[in-house]
Amino acid sequence: MTRSARHRRPIVTDQTLTVRDNRTGDEYELEITDGTVRASDLGKIGKTEDDPGIAVYDPGFTNTASTRSAVTFIDGEKGILEYRGYPIEQLAESSTFLEVAYLLIHGELPTKEQHDQWVHDITFHTFVHENLKSLMQGFRYDAHPMGMLLSSVGALSTFYPEARAIHDPDVRREQIVRMIAKMPTLGAWSFRHAQGKPYVYPDNELSYTENFLSMLFKMSEPKYDPDPRLAKALDVLLILHADHEQNCSTNAVRSVGSSQVDPYSAVSAGIAALYGPLHGGANEAVLRMLKRIGTKDKIPEFIEGVKNGDEKLMGFGHRVYKNYDPRAKIIKKACDDVFEVTGVNPLLEIAQELEKIALEDEYFVSRKLYPNVDFYSGLIYEALQFPPEMFTVLFAIGRTPGWLAQWLELVDDKEQKIARPKQVYTGDRTLEFVPAEQRWA
Ligand code: ACO
Repeated sequence: MTRSARHRRPIVTDQTLTVRDNRTGDEYELEITDGTVRASDLGKIGKTEDDPGIAVYDPGFTNTASTRSAVTFIDGEKGILEYRGYPIEQLAESSTFLEVAYLLIHGELPTKEQHDQWVHDITFHTFVHENLKSLMQGFRYDAHPMGMLLSSVGALSTFYPEARAIHDPDVRREQIVRMIAKMPTLGAWSFRHAQGKPYVYPDNELSYTENFLSMLFKMSEPKYDPDPRLAKALDVLLILHADHEQNCSTNAVRSVGSSQVDPYSAVSAGIAALYGPLHGGANEAVLRMLKRIGTKDKIPEFIEGVKNGDEKLMGFGHRVYKNYDPRAKIIKKACDDVFEVTGVNPLLEIAQELEKIALEDEYFVSRKLYPNVDFYSGLIYEALQFPPEMFTVLFAIGRTPGWLAQWLELVDDKEQKIARPKQVYTGDRTLEFVPAEQRWA
């Protein structure tokens, strides 16, 4: 079905919520729109000259909608993930990362001409300025590749100062193409840097993921010949990470972008957020856990430890998914394709047995704990010879179109304002300052 032929979800209004302020007995009727009330309407409750009115206290935004968005739909209870309305399973099966990137950015699937132009534009923006290469070479030999990535993406803003014109659609498109194109170059170079290997320049005759593999692994051969099965598996992994609505890093991109800064700076904030272990680092923790368990016979003892609250089964559970994470199912299949080329990662057997036992155990069943995207992805990355520090870089390359699609939506959204949450102040007031020479006398 084409987008014009189908119906977008209607905005549901004409519903209200009556709130009684028991401090005064006053009643307020708040409009409910799409299951939300406006925080500003709550602010009218009890508002006087001395009282700013009721605010919402929501650390971590666990129940606060910060935007209306038409990019990604998730139903965590049912295990559904859709980009622009298309189920992730169909996109992973039959699309490519660049086509999905087009879909996320433009909101529509491309025609053949649009697709070819898009792929051409991205392919011919993969090179970066030589000074940026010098900047990367200046990092310490053991620099974390995510630190290098976030700095170099931030530095791109200095090479393209016109990017500040965020209200010009042509300028915006140019930066989006540049960023999607250059991210694998910067990611691959941060990988080579840690190994003391020369940086490999992009090969524009290869596809997006083939070229990425070439920049990662090419040595003295005149032309790198990537295995198509590995390129396909990596492409699928990038698709699976391309967007996930208002997660921590996307919120960082939107929050920083709301100051109307250029998109390189906003995306580097997203990379910084992804760097944290609570967001992008769980697959690394899964690998460490599997290695520690070591053999299948140790699994029952490990599970008992988890149930006793000694530790967590990493790669299980999700804030949003209370069902099998749809991405985990697809990754499980990609494992087979990758291991056909690389040989089976011996940790796979432990992971599968762990999953089997956990899915039958009352502790996990009653808490709706299922494998998430990170349970199997680390196994694939390891089989592809990536060190754990690179896992999050791969995530960042995949997430770039999602960050940019959300940034575009933000820039055009008339309702958005500079992000500036309220606080509940708990500190002292109106203390009298005593100058240092008197305090220290
Ligand atoms: N192993 C064992 N028990 C768990 C796990 C787990 N992985 N996850 C949740 N639980 C338990 C909790 O202890 C809690 O039990 P209780 O009700 O007896 O206290 C119950 O399940 C509910 O868990 P919460 O912590 O309330 O769930 P929340 O939504 O806050 O946390 C999270 C989600 C952080 C992902 C959690 O499941 C977790 O830590 N999982 C392991 C880490 C991981 O895999 N993270 C990757 C997430 S995917 C991503 O970010 C890309």
